[in-house]
Amino acid sequence: MRVRLPPLRGAATIRAMKRLGVIGSGSGSNFQAILDAIDRGELDAEVACVLSDVAEARILDRARERGIPACYVDGAPYRTKLAGRAEQAVIAILSEHRTDYVVLAGFMRMVKDGLLGAYPRRILNIHPSLLPAFPGLASWEQALTYGVRYTGCTVHFVDVGMDTGPIIVQKTVPIHEEDTPSTLHARIQEQEHIAYPEALQLVLAGRTRVDGRRVRTLPE
Ligand code: GRF
Repeated sequence: MRVRLPPLRGAATIRAMKRLGVIGSGSGSNFQAILDAIDRGELDAEVACVLSDVAEARILDRARERGIPACYVDGAPYRTKLAGRAEQAVIAILSEHRTDYVVLAGFMRMVKDGLLGAYPRRILNIHPSLLPAFPGLASWEQALTYGVRYTGCTVHFVDVGMDTGPIIVQKTVPIHEEDTPSTLHARIQEQEHIAYPEALQLVLAGRTRVDGRRVRTLPE
């Protein structure tokens, strides 16, 4: 007699679901875009926890509203990097929540060897320019001041440098005559909200291979 086994797809999907630890310092609109992509079934992931170095950051409220563990970690005594006890605390919280990938979403500190070593090639960042142009702060203002006709956003793996890691996805944004820093930043953010879920899905589905500086995208 042949026994028909029930399909295992559901169980397999649950086991394979990657857990994201999101770290941000600000409003969390990229975090929201990631949640929305998960809700639409476009990103096979779940958010394990959200961390911020800013106690009143909106990103923490967005997490709490969804019942996602949200933690403030004091970055002192450092102002521009995640190091020392704060770095250790972040690693411990990410580990406690069984984080597979770290998603930097508006995190305003440089990450250092401790976190990079804990999540090798498993930390992503989004930057509001077409890297390697305009790394660092207020990239949309840098683009306007420089007078480029196009800018955009970049999702990349994080390495020891500032906005230097291998590039996964970029989106372009044209600069209009009447643009101000805020109108341009708003249009860049629209593209960020498309680019981040897209890049994450590529990485989580195992469809990226880092080859030196280049990230090869493998077919489905
Ligand atoms: C984004 O523009 C991102 O590129 C930069 O910080 C900003 C974060 O915005 N790294 P939000 O907190 O996701 O709204």
